[in-house]
Amino acid sequence: MNIKEIKEQFPILNQHVNGHPLVYLDSSATSQKPKAVIDALDSYYKNYNSNVHRGVHTLGTKATDAYEGAREKVKNFINAKETAEIIFTKGTTASLNLVAQCYVREFLKEGDEILITPMEHHSNLIPWQQAAKKTGAILKYIPFSFNIQLQ
Ligand SMILES: Cc1ncc(COP(=O)(O)O)c(C=O)c1O
Repeated sequence: MNIKEIKEQFPILNQHVNGHPLVYLDSSATSQKPKAVIDALDSYYKNYNSNVHRGVHTLGTKATDAYEGAREKVKNFINAKETAEIIFTKGTTASLNLVAQCYVREFLKEGDEILITPMEHHSNLIPWQQAAKKTGAILKYIPFSFNIQLQ
């Protein structure tokens, strides 16, 4: 893996902040995009911006093909069995709410245990608190220490 080559794919990192080369570590909040993604977005807005899965006109068909093509690529990238397993949401909070409120709640029953850590972002805490409240499941925090040994 060539870190320099990977870094060069992210135009935003080609700048200095406070006199130092930019290092961005807030990816959970907003991830930076490589040029390929920026170019794809640019091309979408310039060439076929339209409603996916609704418009039957040319632009709508192009947008739908690109959208479904992305689903296929993600499926292959993470080695999923079917494209139907790939669900796009607006972000982490929406995804976790979907999992906690739709999928898992079907199976949760009174007395079941939901395990999270004391370090969770609200987006991975509130959905489970709500699921526990609704079902009678018990929310438990896995204890951990900061004595991590890096190899
Ligand atoms: C560590 C962490 N987890 C989760 C989230 C929630 O992400 P989203 O904005 O995609 O819902 C954030 C957002 O700032 C975050 O910083």
